[in-house]
Amino acid sequence: MFEDGQLYSPVSTKDDGSVEVHLGENHPGFRDEAYRARRNDIAEIAVAWSPGAPIPTVDYTEGEQDIWREVARELAPKHEKHAHSEYLHAKEALGLPSDHVPQLGEVGERLVPLTGFTYVPAPGLVPLREFYESLGRREFHSTQYLRHPSQPLYTPEPDIIHEVMGHANQLASPRFAALTEAAGKATARAELDDTVKFIADVFWFTLEFGVMWEDGDLKAYGAGILSSYGEMDEYAHMEIRPLDIAEMGTINYDITAYQPVLFAADSLDQLEDVVGTFFDTCDDETPSRLKATV
Ligand code: TRP
Ligand code: FE
Repeated sequence: MFEDGQLYSPVSTKDDGSVEVHLGENHPGFRDEAYRARRNDIAEIAVAWSPGAPIPTVDYTEGEQDIWREVARELAPKHEKHAHSEYLHAKEALGLPSDHVPQLGEVGERLVPLTGFTYVPAPGLVPLREFYESLGRREFHSTQYLRHPSQPLYTPEPDIIHEVMGHANQLASPRFAALTEAAGKATARAELDDTVKFIADVFWFTLEFGVMWEDGDLKAYGAGILSSYGEMDEYAHMEIRPLDIAEMGTINYDITAYQPVLFAADSLDQLEDVVGTFFDTCDDETPSRLKATV
């Protein structure tokens, strides 16, 4: 369960149609007026978009391009060393640019022939159920803004670097894409909000923050680790537990800091066996049955 903090900064629309993004006091951009104005403008583009319309583009500034380039450059050697080979192959197949921020439409165009995933814009928080149900249709709601330049290592909220360098590279793998879709389909079957929350928590400790043993090394495959070059240096020193659905679905966690407890799969086969089977078979009785076992 989420402990504290908020995954995305809340977005509100004013009477005149303008959009305001509310950054928390601890957000690195809280006191940066220019950054806040930019966040409002970018959120407005997503708010104005409706399904079926062309995917809107953002005219990224040189400063924003620099953040993308810096993170891509820092991540490249860390991925080579510490990312799971399934992710590395998928990243290579997708071939995203490292010298400029790709538009969401371009990300979808590259993903579709590989796994059928498309990218659509989101101003910030998408309600949990909507976010996951769309994954079940192989559609990914993505933010378009960039993290604050003062903290490129790690951002307290997902930005386009996370959505694209983390998730899109991962979703270029047919095996990770299938697991992601299965989580979405499980959500679509669920009637209880508690079931959706449980599925989201298992997703959190696997496709967001999962690690996996490969040839004796602990590799990262979770999009949340793979988009943070700060967290890429730290994850191997965290408490590592074996995959356990009941534990992943019930443990408390803070979404705004490095994850202190991680769950390691023995292999991709085991991940599909344990987590894929959970997503495929989960119904509204499953969470309470599992909670009774911890
Ligand atoms: N820390 C991640 C990064 O630096 C972004 C992020 C913040 C995130 N909160 C998250 C990712 C929650 C996944 C889930 O890229
Ligand atoms: Fe994510």
